[in-house]
Amino acid sequence: MQAVQTTHPDIERVLISEEELRACVAKMGADITRDYANEEARIVVVSVLRGAAIFMSDLVREIHLPLEMDYMAVSSYGSGVTSSGTIKLQKDITTDIQGKHVIIAEDIIDSGLTLQYTIDHLAYFKPASIQVASLLRKVRDDQPDIDAKYVGFEIPDAFVVGYGLDYAERYRNLPYLGVLKPAVYENK
Ligand code: IMP
Ligand code: MG
Repeated sequence: MQAVQTTHPDIERVLISEEELRACVAKMGADITRDYANEEARIVVVSVLRGAAIFMSDLVREIHLPLEMDYMAVSSYGSGVTSSGTIKLQKDITTDIQGKHVIIAEDIIDSGLTLQYTIDHLAYFKPASIQVASLLRKVRDDQPDIDAKYVGFEIPDAFVVGYGLDYAERYRNLPYLGVLKPAVYENK
């Protein structure tokens, strides 16, 4: 069977290709490897489910240091395209992160509410440090000033899917990042 890859019909345009994603994640992993070289065995990468799961699994394979992985789940979107503004913790970490260096792997910083909540929540467990590695950051005037040390791409304020990001739980498995056709959510 011949594999022919075409862009999904619900995608308006490919914003970031598979190759660009791979190169960006490799660079971020190399930066983290360099920055944390003296912190061996005290690194915990925490992913915010579900959107960041694919990014995290690629990122950790580019970090050439011993590390632990754990997962949190928070919700703010429901099934829509804008944040509900209310964040709920759906799943907590189980790793003891006290005195360890936490790297939060996020898919995207949009309103920034999810990330701020996540940082505040993890700070409660008294880690030695918390840094943010976000694949994407949407350029928005109203975004609070969150200090994200590692950001892959700054993107325009459009609704994007693929590489872990969903609309109503669909499109997460697209290997690229694409802008969703507005007709897909406007007709709902
Ligand atoms: P925030 O709290 O508004 O920063 O949004 C955080 C979460 O909303 C992200 O972790 C994503 O899961 C989701 N999200 C925000 N923007 C998009 C988008 O353009 N496409 C898909 N999911 C998004
Ligand atoms: Mg989502």
